[in-house]
Amino acid sequence: MIEKLDEIKSNAIDELSSLQSIKELEDWRVRYLGKKSALTQILRGLASRPLEERKAVGASANELKSLLERSHRQKKEALKEKAYQEMEAAAVGKQIISPTGIPSEEKFGIPTVFLGIPDVTLPGRPIPLGRLHPTTQMVREICDIFVALGFQVVEGPEVEWDYYNFEALNIPPDHPARDMWATLWIDTKSGERPMLLRTHTSPMQIRVMERTTPPVRVVVPGKVYRYEATDATHESMFYQIEGLAVDKNITLADLKGTLYEFARRLFGAERKVRFRCDYFPFVEPGVEMAIDCMVCGGTGCRLCSGTGWIEILGAGMVHPAVLRRVNYDPEIYTGFAFGLGLERMSMLRYGVEDIRLFYSNDLRFLRQF
Ligand code: PHE
Repeated sequence: MIEKLDEIKSNAIDELSSLQSIKELEDWRVRYLGKKSALTQILRGLASRPLEERKAVGASANELKSLLERSHRQKKEALKEKAYQEMEAAAVGKQIISPTGIPSEEKFGIPTVFLGIPDVTLPGRPIPLGRLHPTTQMVREICDIFVALGFQVVEGPEVEWDYYNFEALNIPPDHPARDMWATLWIDTKSGERPMLLRTHTSPMQIRVMERTTPPVRVVVPGKVYRYEATDATHESMFYQIEGLAVDKNITLADLKGTLYEFARRLFGAERKVRFRCDYFPFVEPGVEMAIDCMVCGGTGCRLCSGTGWIEILGAGMVHPAVLRRVNYDPEIYTGFAFGLGLERMSMLRYGVEDIRLFYSNDLRFLRQF
């Protein structure tokens, strides 16, 4: 029996020294200290043995048991320490020092390798950042140009009275110029003042002048609406920017100088501009402004449909009848006004071929800006 115990002892100690993992150690414990182990069997069997043998074998068996238990505890500690060191070594190089320069382990007092996280101060997953819509970017860019030239930015209502959209702008109810703007009307009861979605930003000329004494220098960005079928160059909703300057001694030369400077700042210092006569009931004279085509440089291409020129806005000197309506004396004050289509500016700048792309919410398009 004693030999048996010696054999168990040497096998157990031998095996123990070659164990590499906690799992192997647990198997070892079951094998040598478990209920079915030889040692446990021997201890159990002692009861039916003669007293002499019980004494001698019992003492040795118990001694062996506590030796194995002690060895087991020590080995367990050693294996844990070894695992910890290995994990730490694996984490070296992967460990990211936090912005404070303190590795997270020190910062939180937890060996984070035990949490299965190399570093809890790792940057989080990036949250996709939004961006400004190309139209918003263009509104800001154009307004910035005019602000630098001394203009103020104001906004006005999109649901407008017929009075401001047409009447006060020299366009009475039966005037054929109303056909220039396909109008979306708001339902009103008979006898009520007619209401509409503004077809241009020009009504703000009147609203601004009504509440200001000259000098006036404003730009008005905003949405306008047209009752029209959509195609590559038409939308039922789009943006305009209106401009208005009223003061003593304002002439057509001021209009030309201001808009020339604007075109150069937006489309490049080498731009040429062309002014031609045009008709708008609220200006006299009325002009249309074009810039030389930035693609072909004026020789003619697809963008400028072979003409070398691209029309970018309508403008003119504020009509005396419009000034009188807001109680400005046209003998003292003169002014110029202009209106431009914003998406057209973006389309020219970025080579966008279909205006509908701006408002169809396709991220593949929008992310390019
Ligand atoms: N409101 C005009 C349009 O929408 C543009 C314009 C504005 C023309 C100001 C002259 C002066 O067509």
